[in-house]
Amino acid sequence: MGLFTKKPMNLLLEEAGDSEKGLKRTLSAGSLVALGIGAIIGAGLFVRTAAAAAQNAGPSVTFGFIVAAIGCALAGLCYAELSSSIPISGSAYTYTYATMGELLAWVIGWDLILEYAVGAATVGIAWSEYLNNLLVQVLHWKPIAYEWCHSPFEHSIADAAGIVHTGIINLPALGIVTLLSLLLIKGTQESAFVNGLIVITKVSIVVLIIILGRGFVSSANQVPYIPEPTIYTDHQGVDHHFGGILGILGAAGVVFFAFIGFDAVSTAAQETKNPKTAMPIGILGSLAVCTVLYILFAHVLTGIAPVEFFRTDGREASVVAAINKFMPGYEWLGKLVTVAILAGFSSVILVMLLGQSRVFYSMSKDGLLPAAFCEVHPKYKTPYKANLIILVLVGLFAAFVPGDIVGDMTSIGTLFAFILVCAAVIILRKTNPDLPRQFKTPFVPVIPILGILVCAAMIYGLGWTNWARLFGWLAIGFVIYFGYSKKRSHLKD
Ligand code: ALA
Repeated sequence: MGLFTKKPMNLLLEEAGDSEKGLKRTLSAGSLVALGIGAIIGAGLFVRTAAAAAQNAGPSVTFGFIVAAIGCALAGLCYAELSSSIPISGSAYTYTYATMGELLAWVIGWDLILEYAVGAATVGIAWSEYLNNLLVQVLHWKPIAYEWCHSPFEHSIADAAGIVHTGIINLPALGIVTLLSLLLIKGTQESAFVNGLIVITKVSIVVLIIILGRGFVSSANQVPYIPEPTIYTDHQGVDHHFGGILGILGAAGVVFFAFIGFDAVSTAAQETKNPKTAMPIGILGSLAVCTVLYILFAHVLTGIAPVEFFRTDGREASVVAAINKFMPGYEWLGKLVTVAILAGFSSVILVMLLGQSRVFYSMSKDGLLPAAFCEVHPKYKTPYKANLIILVLVGLFAAFVPGDIVGDMTSIGTLFAFILVCAAVIILRKTNPDLPRQFKTPFVPVIPILGILVCAAMIYGLGWTNWARLFGWLAIGFVIYFGYSKKRSHLKD
């Protein structure tokens, strides 16, 4: 009973217009593109690209970026239609509630925790990698010991003395997540301003690396461009499909992480002035800028250093490691990139934490989560209790789970959400054909169906361990839904 109850469209639209009681409307189309790029360029580019080259595809990671970009563009067109017709906080969760009913809405809301909360943890872990660069190469201090900046499930490659270190807790990752959660509680407007500055720095750095790095690309590193298919076992003993089509699909699933965030724009709909036009511009604009930069960047990075380097010395903080080793005379660039990346990662974490709190806010307004999640701070007008609970959740992942695992969990969770968003467009066209749509996805149902297929292919490429993690996560979600949320839903029959 109630499993397939849909949230009525008029109720949704009423809530959208009723912003007086809820969150402040402060964001314009420009700040949304900035918010999007702020969320997009981050650990995916500066950490996961090298990981995908090392484990899956070598230089053909660029093809992985192309596959991922196609999937995102297709899903992005669907996101844009939904966010321009249902301009409400909560992203894919809200769209699903209106189109496919409560159970699937819960599934997607629960799944979005993987995208935003686990994603924020992944970037926090990447931040921790580059912090050591800052300490050693820029400030000439000692690095943080391996034990205190890695999860208990990770161990190092043997050092010069043959010692293998094992992690205990990732303290820097925990620290940055805590700091940014507190900043977020103070307010979106201030955070968006800081974000704007960081976005400019981040884009400039990526462009600089592409331009300066081009001169150091060695064709020997890129032959063959698509490696022969084989199995690569990493130093933790995990097997990966390397080379060939499977390698490219696996790489696409991994670097897909680099695109995550353009959809976070849609979670801020309730805080946007004129969301109907601003949303599609924000989503597709930020996606377009990043796609071009990523393909060029990945081509240059895999041309500078051989794959073997990214499996060994260049496994962590890979971009700066490659600059320092293979671009003599450009140590200054390595230092600049380190500082910029630390700031850049912070803006990504901020947007992901923001996205997560808005999803919880919407779910709690619907009764599926406790009321505390939508309590707005009397002065700052932010859902501060949700932010604090998210801090605990993200902090646990950041402190105790390895970056590769949370990274791939984020990718698979988000791909699954994208599939449901594509399906929602097709369903909504049938169930609510007259709903005003400021932006319409072209060629429905072809575009949404292609979006579903490309995202499913990337899920396939991520391999069975990640499928198992996704199923495990969803199973926990079902227990909570049937044990708590179903009974308390405001739409209950
Ligand atoms: N796209 C974001 C990043 O790469 C999540 O860090």
